[in-house]
Amino acid sequence: MTPTQKKELPTNPADHTHESIRVLIPRERLKKRIRELAKKIRKDFQGEPLHLVGVLKGAVFFLADLARQIPGEVSFDFIAVSSYGDRTHSSGQVRLTRDLDSSIEGKTVIVVEDILDTGMTMQYLLSIFQQRKPKHLRVAALLDKPDRRVTAVQADYVGFRIPNEFVVGYGLDYAERYRNLLDVGVLTIGKAAKKKNRKKSATDV
Ligand code: IMP
Ligand code: MG
Repeated sequence: MTPTQKKELPTNPADHTHESIRVLIPRERLKKRIRELAKKIRKDFQGEPLHLVGVLKGAVFFLADLARQIPGEVSFDFIAVSSYGDRTHSSGQVRLTRDLDSSIEGKTVIVVEDILDTGMTMQYLLSIFQQRKPKHLRVAALLDKPDRRVTAVQADYVGFRIPNEFVVGYGLDYAERYRNLLDVGVLTIGKAAKKKNRKKSATDV
């Protein structure tokens, strides 16, 4: 869940001069792909009210853009979780920090997440939601890092499959920063960050 160059983190946490970001998915590609996902979701559930559940905070922009591209009846709600462990090591244990406002019983629910990494967060969420008896339960993830998966969880709707690199922007953060970037980019940390941040690409799914 973190940049790999852990040893080279600046000693002063306020010093971000050694962080470099290379654009991986430009805003136009995000927009186009989200339009496609919205179309696919509506096609799969024609005429049905859809209830989107966004996972705070990373999924806010994805949910906002996705919801506005889905025609017909759409409602949404938010949930927040945190995983135990520090910034560099996730223990895999997930804790609910904010529950939904309303019941999902009998609803067609699409869980909207920024990224599927190990899959622990989504596994936890799906187990909670399943118990609440939705009519349908699906997952939409903007990004998927399949190399990191330790669970059997898969998304029904995936925006982009990306290499095993730490990404920020369009809602995704590093220590709460960079969420406001319009593009998704690869973050590299360390003295030679700019040089190291070489090109690898994202695949449309
Ligand atoms: P998982 O439980 O390992 O699948 O992790 C999911 C959560 O970890 C995501 O919702 C993100 O908040 C965070 N995460 C995983 N990979 C990245 C990344 O590359 N950049 C930013 N956040 C990430
Ligand atoms: Mg998240």
